Amino acid sequence: MKIGVLISGRGSNLQALIDAAQVRGFPAEIALVISNIPGVYGIERAERAGIPTRVVDHKSFAGKAPFEDALHDELTTAGVELVCLAGFMRLLTEGFVSRWPDKIVNIHPSLLPSFKGLHTHERALEAGVRFGGCTVHFVRPAMDDGPIIVQAAVPILTNDTVDALTARVLAEEHRIYPLAVKLIAQGRTRVDGERVTIADAEAPAAALVNPQG
Ligand code: GAR
Repeated sequence: MKIGVLISGRGSNLQALIDAAQVRGFPAEIALVISNIPGVYGIERAERAGIPTRVVDHKSFAGKAPFEDALHDELTTAGVELVCLAGFMRLLTEGFVSRWPDKIVNIHPSLLPSFKGLHTHERALEAGVRFGGCTVHFVRPAMDDGPIIVQAAVPILTNDTVDALTARVLAEEHRIYPLAVKLIAQGRTRVDGERVTIADAEAPAAALVNPQG
């Protein structure tokens, strides 16, 4: 399966996908990386891995529709079948999302549906929740919304800091994003309403909670 990765920054999740795709037998390859921000480190990571890159700068378009048309054209020209948002910080409109039905996935650094949006770790610490985590989900037009594919939880410790929690969650992000892409590329995910079921789960816990794979 050809995937396109959309980024806005440093691209550590992109790197996790690059590394996974380099392992023999991984069922997906990265056909294109697009950043909406010029000069970000994620683009360098892709170039180093020999992956085609594009910058589609939202600021150079007169509105969301032409920006998203440009994204769509780049993705379809590259033969992309699955779009992976990896720290892509633009909200995609219904118009774009409906052109890619259940073919866009996102990673978010919280246990959705809690803590959508920004500053998730600060807010989790403020709320005093005992677990943080991350979620890979199919994208719907609302922010950080859509059927959940994989989640991983981490404990929140007494006297935790934002930096420590961020790092703990990020390590899990790097583990579950490639896993979610693998499950989709293997054709093992099915969206029923707003829920995802995973077929032939030989992985521990059906790949749903802190999967080891
Ligand atoms: C990641 O923590 C990702 O989950 C988050 O941005 C970071 C990007 O880091 N995404 C969101 O908050 C989306 N709502 P990266 O560029 O190193 O992958």
